[in-house]
Amino acid sequence: MTKRVLITGGAGFIGSRLVKALLRQDPDQQIWVFDNLHPQVHGDNPASPVFPEGVHFVLGDVADAEALNAVVEKSQPELVYHLAAETGTGQSYDEPTRYCAVNVLGTTHLIEALRRVDTTRRVVLAASRAVYGEGGYRDADGVEFVGLPRQPQNMAEGDFSVPLPKNARLPATPSASHAGLPPAPASVYASTKLMQEYLLCQAGEGAEWEATILRFQNVYGPGQSLRNPYTGVLSIFARQLLAGGQLAIFEDGDIARDFVFVDDVVAALVCASINPVTHGSILDIGSGEAVTILDMARMLMRALGLPDNAYSVTGQFRIGDIRYACADVSAAKGQLKWSPQVSIQSGVQQLADWAKSEFKTATL
Ligand SMILES: NC(=O)c1ccc[n+]([C@@H]2O[C@H](COP(=O)([O-])OP(=O)(O)OC[C@H]3O[C@@H](n4cnc5c(N)ncnc54)[C@H](O)[C@@H]3O)[C@@H](O)[C@H]2O)c1
Repeated sequence: MTKRVLITGGAGFIGSRLVKALLRQDPDQQIWVFDNLHPQVHGDNPASPVFPEGVHFVLGDVADAEALNAVVEKSQPELVYHLAAETGTGQSYDEPTRYCAVNVLGTTHLIEALRRVDTTRRVVLAASRAVYGEGGYRDADGVEFVGLPRQPQNMAEGDFSVPLPKNARLPATPSASHAGLPPAPASVYASTKLMQEYLLCQAGEGAEWEATILRFQNVYGPGQSLRNPYTGVLSIFARQLLAGGQLAIFEDGDIARDFVFVDDVVAALVCASINPVTHGSILDIGSGEAVTILDMARMLMRALGLPDNAYSVTGQFRIGDIRYACADVSAAKGQLKWSPQVSIQSGVQQLADWAKSEFKTATL
């Protein structure tokens, strides 16, 4: 049983719930959380996060090699969860240097620090389905192709469809993402997340530790920052709705996402520490079901107790947004002995109830 665990980004949405889940699994684990309490996520002048007794919190930045080295030296971790990251797709276009400094160099700093102590046996990466870009499509013959990037000029004319290579026979339907698809990152954020995967897998070759890559779909649930305007579409929607606003639904409302409840993601992270998964395994973590953004927005309005018509479909679009995302969770089910448990109705209700109570009490 693992005793010493280091979680980078452990004060965030997923990480803070992971800490509690690990302690439920084994109360004797020694957990170190390394997190810079990013103002975009935690606000300016955040209070020190409250963790269960015995958890060591270290304020620090993964882009700071010395600080990361010091916490690795101190914790001598057997198991590492690497969650710290810059996470905004749109923002990543404006700040590619910051995104690379944190996501890419932060990962190389971690690798070098782990080499020095040589205590680590597993590194689990919070990776992203963003690496698939537009993802897979099956054509009329059942052949799978990777969707090509959508062109702004077509989208401006209201054509939101995903182009396919010329040899695909139409019509084609989107398929669930699986690790067999070639990566096709469509944003700076996605490229940095893919680089994290490559770096951990390559550095782990011949090392004592094994890398497990969990590619998350859209994670949602209580605890996701309501103030971060760059990530977490449902949290952003909840905040706008609770402030009495109307939602602007992009494209034609039919953008589809696989929304996976945070506790299901945390359960997958915990399973990754228990089950012997071979080095470099890439596993897709989602609910396995695609829902359109419009349907999800209306479900959220109802869960908040609001009429479900507080929106307009605007036809606006964002470069880097992809049209369809859904995970093929069969590999994760088999290798992690995990499966998603929380229904979308229950998950959205939990998010809505939490957002209402936060909105009443917090200064967002
Ligand atoms: N939430 C999702 O939908 C989703 C989807 C795919 C992948 N992921 C990945 O999961 C991980 C965790 O995401 P989350 O949703 O919990 O995000 P989050 O923003 O709530 O948590 C990230 C945590 O990392 C910390 N952090 C940011 N930059 C840091 C730095 N330079 N040094 C140290 N700490 C830093 C933040 O303060 C925050 O506490 C990220 O790596 C993200 O890319 C999340």
